[in-house]
This record gives sequence, structure tokens and C-alpha cells, in this order.
Amino acid sequence: MSQFLCIGHRGAGGHEPENTLRSIRRALELGAHGVEIDVRLVHGELLVMHDAKLDRTTNGHGYLIRKSLTALRALDAGQGERIPTLREVFQTVNRRAFINIELKGRKTAAPVCALIHEFVYTHGWQYADFLVSSFHRTELRAVPDPQVPIGLLLTRPTRLYGLSARRVRACAVHPAVRYVTARFVADAHRRGLRVFPYTANEPAEIARLRDLGVDGVFTDFPERAVGA
Ligand code: G3P
Ligand code: CA
Repeated sequence: MSQFLCIGHRGAGGHEPENTLRSIRRALELGAHGVEIDVRLVHGELLVMHDAKLDRTTNGHGYLIRKSLTALRALDAGQGERIPTLREVFQTVNRRAFINIELKGRKTAAPVCALIHEFVYTHGWQYADFLVSSFHRTELRAVPDPQVPIGLLLTRPTRLYGLSARRVRACAVHPAVRYVTARFVADAHRRGLRVFPYTANEPAEIARLRDLGVDGVFTDFPERAVGA
């Protein structure tokens, strides 16, 4: 039986300001096997940020896209942290965990894959150091390299989720925790898909999912899922 994987959600979003380098470092310290972050393309730069607007997670206001990169990088994303670039995240993780890059915005697939290629072909990383995911199937279909591992995010799995997964060449599905059943896990495994539900924070929920046979979970509190 393969190891139950702990994926730090937005780094260690339950402990530190989400999607910051500080949060990622904390997830690594807590033993996460993978770290998940959200990516948007802003004026040609891949920035790590969940929302399209600045208000919830920074001291800025309004839409990211309306600000210059210089202005965005001067903002406080919590405890003095800046909004990181994806490259900074790669450098911070430095192969100590795999990186799940969630494509939040449009036109992110190609530049994300270009950066993955740079790290694979110039810095000796492996494709297995990455997992690219999204709710946006058109964005996943735009991933130009079949060697890049893909996870299909699902809110509620539909009857046709397997077809969608095949169309985007997914090796994993990422459903919302509340919809995960033993039947779904068995069906996904039969199709050769790994199952990583989001976001499991309560120990009882993590234990329930582990008992259902999922391959790992996204959690804001990595210490609760490591070794679960
Ligand atoms: O990738 C799992 C999870 O992060 C998806 O939802 O809204 O937290 O990005 P959200
Ligand atoms: Ca996410």
C-alpha cells in the first residue's frame, strides 16, 4: 500500500499567511510531502495568490490585474511577507516536497510549464516534483507537455468525471472532502486515478478519508495528516 500523502494547503494556511514563502517553509518544517499553492498570471509574471482581488489576504485593495508588478510586490501579504512569484516557491521548496500548482487564472498553463521545463532540464528536477491542477479544464487541456502530472479538481464528482479526467490526461482527481465515498475512491482507483480530497482539517475527517483509502489529503494543518 502506498504512503498516505499530506499536502500542505496554501503552504500551511492554518498557521501562517496563506500562499506565502513563510507558509511554505512551515509546511516543510511540519513534514508535508507536498505543498499546494495558487497561481495567477499578472503582467507576464506568475504570482502566487488565491483571489483575483487583494483585499482578503494583503493590505492592498481591488484587482491584482489593475496594479503594477512593482506595486503588487510592495504589498504586505501577512506578517511582512510579499506576494511570492512561482519561481521563488520552487527555489524555497527545492525538491524537499512536491509542488502542486493550482492554475487559478487563464493563460497560466503555458508559462507554468515553461518554468517546470526550466527546472527539469536546467536544474535536474523531475516531473514527479510537480502536480499541476485546476478546476478549469480548458487550462488543463492547454498544458503542452504530456509528462507534466495533472490533477483534476472537482467540486462534486459527476457521473462523467472519469471522462473529464481522461480528456485532460489526469493522473489524479481532487474532490471536495464532503463528496468522497468508498465507492468513489474505488471507482477512481479502478480508472488509475489517485484521489486527493480538499480540504481536510479535522483529525476525524482525515481519519475517515484515510480509512476510505484516499491517497492523501490537502490540509491547512500538515502536522495533523503527516503519519495519519
Ligand atoms: O487544490 C485544492 C484546493 O486548494 C482547491 O480550492 O479554493 O482552496 O483553491 P481552493
Ligand atoms: Ca488552491
